[in-house]
Amino acid sequence: PSSRDRSLIILGATGDLAERLLLPGLASLLAVGRCAKLELIGAGGSDWSDERWRDLLRATLGESAGDALPGILERARYVRTDATDADALRALLAAATRDPLLYLAIPPSTARATVEALAAVDLPDGTVLALEKPFGVDRASAAQLNARLAELLPEDRVFRIDHFLGKSTVANLIGLRAANRVIEAVWNRDGIDRIEIVYDESLALEGRAGYYDTAGALVDMIQSHLLLVLALAAMELPSSLEADDLHGAMMQVLRATTVRDGDAEAASRRARYTAGAIDGETVPDYASEDGVDASRSTETLAEVVVEIGTPRWAGVPIVLRSGKALGAPSTHVRASMRPAPHLPHGLEPAGGAPAITIALSPERLAIELDINGAGDPGELDRVSLDAEFTAGELTAYGEVLGDVLEGDAAFTVRGDVAEECWRIVEPVLEAWRADRVPLEEYPAGSSGPSSWAPLP
Ligand code: BG6
Repeated sequence: PSSRDRSLIILGATGDLAERLLLPGLASLLAVGRCAKLELIGAGGSDWSDERWRDLLRATLGESAGDALPGILERARYVRTDATDADALRALLAAATRDPLLYLAIPPSTARATVEALAAVDLPDGTVLALEKPFGVDRASAAQLNARLAELLPEDRVFRIDHFLGKSTVANLIGLRAANRVIEAVWNRDGIDRIEIVYDESLALEGRAGYYDTAGALVDMIQSHLLLVLALAAMELPSSLEADDLHGAMMQVLRATTVRDGDAEAASRRARYTAGAIDGETVPDYASEDGVDASRSTETLAEVVVEIGTPRWAGVPIVLRSGKALGAPSTHVRASMRPAPHLPHGLEPAGGAPAITIALSPERLAIELDINGAGDPGELDRVSLDAEFTAGELTAYGEVLGDVLEGDAAFTVRGDVAEECWRIVEPVLEAWRADRVPLEEYPAGSSGPSSWAPLP
């Protein structure tokens, strides 16, 4: 069915994710004239009225929805629901007047309980389910969750959401490689000697201790978002962008990906921020934040080096890194070129190897070149060809939600892909749990522990 025919049921409608990301995503779809006929049902444990739900919709969708707003508000309803109770879920699904898309915008532990409870519910025809990352807490639980989901619905009606796949720059990794010989021709171990996939944020905990303190940077960012970025950046290009082809290509490269030299201790680092300041605002010590259990040793900065055992990438280190409360935020994929095999004698190198950088936000592509610049003709100068991308009209959540409403799974996470991402990080999780890698510290606002050599 097209999105017009669906009821979107947001379970977790009163939560942070719905207000900050999902509804603004929907607003971006409405702004371009999509989803105007949607039936929007809010559901959650809180005792909200229909009116309160409509107020939230008015506040988040109002400016973008234009003429569609009155209809959306009129069709909108709120159903108080215990997300872990089969009877309540049955009643919720029955409240939909069209084929339901049940979107679990709830914490992963509750989502697992919801999936268990749904086993006792006869799902209405045409039901589809959307879930948020992280899928499970390790490889075994992800496999278990996938098995439960498979009992409920066929895989093409289960959508695992990772909004990084909706970011225009992430999708651009495919177009950029596929359409530009100048990039794809060097995109291998002969042309490139190191890749970094970095998502360093200045944001700190932001009141999310309940979830974040049990996840940490490795699970929150690397296990999910960054490994999917790696899959798109490093895969063999698929023959089409249909879900099966794309997921097959991603799966193939992920299956070849392992922690470097199989040595999780040598290939990973972790750290946690202490008190500091970012842009003049003080940031409290992570360990003293409300809801944080310091004895859990949750990291807020994680770095893992992986390698890909394929003819294209063998031996090329790929650094995955993400952290919070960092002073110099940067989000990018950066591929450093191998040095030229020979420079004519008398020509001085510019220093270091030039790189291709794809900045994720703000969107930018930079290709560095070394040229005989102004001044001494015997000295090479580094120049950079920079292009700004314009961000898409839709937010990342808007992209993914629009696809899911239309039944297109290409930019969602197939079950086996999610399990494979857990398989890759599992040795690191084990090494960290056993304290075989020290938890270091860095002041909020810095670029990480002072003992860590900065990334180039
Ligand atoms: C979320 C993580 O999935 O992605 C957050 O839980 C992180 O911790 C966020 O801040 C980053 O994505 P974006 O698109 O908001 O930059």
